[in-house]
Amino acid sequence: MNNNKFKSSFGFLMAAVGSAVGVGNLWGFPYKMGANGGFAFLLCYILCVVIGFVLMTGELTIGRHGGKGVVENYRLTGKRNGWIGVLAALAVLFITGFCCTLTAYCMKYFLANLGTLLHAGWGINGGDALAYWNAFLSNGMEAALLTLLSVAITMVILFKGTSGIEKFCKYAMPLLVLLLLIVIGRSLSLPGSSAGLAFMFKPDWSVFQGTGWITIFARAGGQAFFSLSLGMAIMITYGAYLDKTENIEKNAALICVFDTLVALLAGVAIFPAVFAFGHEPAGGTSLLFVTLQTVFNDMGMIGAFFGCIFYLLAVIAELTSLVSLFEPPVAFITDMAASKGKSISRAKLVIGVSIFNLATGVLVAFDALGQGGLLQPLGFCWMDFFDLFSEGLLMPIGALAMTLILGWKLGPKWMEAELTQEGNAWRTKNFYMICLKYIAPPFILLVFAGQVSNFFNLGWF
Ligand code: PFF
Repeated sequence: MNNNKFKSSFGFLMAAVGSAVGVGNLWGFPYKMGANGGFAFLLCYILCVVIGFVLMTGELTIGRHGGKGVVENYRLTGKRNGWIGVLAALAVLFITGFCCTLTAYCMKYFLANLGTLLHAGWGINGGDALAYWNAFLSNGMEAALLTLLSVAITMVILFKGTSGIEKFCKYAMPLLVLLLLIVIGRSLSLPGSSAGLAFMFKPDWSVFQGTGWITIFARAGGQAFFSLSLGMAIMITYGAYLDKTENIEKNAALICVFDTLVALLAGVAIFPAVFAFGHEPAGGTSLLFVTLQTVFNDMGMIGAFFGCIFYLLAVIAELTSLVSLFEPPVAFITDMAASKGKSISRAKLVIGVSIFNLATGVLVAFDALGQGGLLQPLGFCWMDFFDLFSEGLLMPIGALAMTLILGWKLGPKWMEAELTQEGNAWRTKNFYMICLKYIAPPFILLVFAGQVSNFFNLGWF
């Protein structure tokens, strides 16, 4: 796999930031920040990102040390550690299908606004956004076809290995930021937009009262881990493609900073416009596909233009995450075959992994967020199930195991040997080891409890 290295620092950084920036930044962070104490939440979130930095550095280090797929990389930290890689690989497989479907939803709304702009019958043309969303959800076939399109695009990018990922992300990420800045310009220039800024940033310290701070940390931590694509085999796989001359610590810090900045920018793009038109703040799919589409409708014809720009940037954010989600199983199976003395062509593997992801994506598309009828009598939503299983369960277990192995078993010497390759310095060593050994493990357990409580409505905090 060593001939599959990233060719430039910028290319690697854009690929990793591209993985981190996704719908989590667009619909997750801004709403959670506004609804959970504004600036007070932001401060907690930044502390969680510091833990995220510790985990990210650990994953990139394990990846570059092994230089292989996730399972083999873990095995190279200790013969019996392969299972952690298996968990991470499974987490990726479970999460990818629904990410493909979400990409399909963003594509649909890009087309809906493009249609309006072109005065075509297939545009949304100022129609009621909630009715449009429900009609689209009930049409599983359309969502499934767009899911197929998102899988096909990802597949084409991946055929060329890291050079495909790097080329795509090198252009896509700066374009995404440019599009975001255009939407921010429009949003902030609307009369009444300051209420949106107040929603996001006004500090509400009362959220910390009593045991409230535990809830806030559990929420902020879950959001930070998901947003940074941690515990999913991704940074370990990308780390394996990283040149020994690269400074892992610096790259991990930059990924964390960029991801947080984009999440903040997304909020500044979205909420001022939502409040300027007198709508209620929301999170999740209803923010992205109902509230925001209503805002674009309210803006008139120019709204269709901004709608196109916004949903295009959402598609880009998702595609750069999708390539990172498809790659770990490809790398892992390549390794597995190699260990048995076999070699499978990359093209065949990419197609195989794509077919699997398409199958789970289509399942989610027809399930229509639990409204579509598949297992509906059980009150079951496939997307929530996949999310809980990977993000809520496999990810924290894997992340916890990693901190214990790196912090308590291998220790600073092992990490230092990899981090200081080619004369690089490890500046945060003491601080890093304290976080890794004593702060990260209980913190991951807290996030884990928060996810379980949230999913099963247990109201623990
Ligand atoms: N980090 C992405 C987001 O914030 O939307 C989503 C994601 C991508 C999560 C890749 C996990 C992952 F492995």
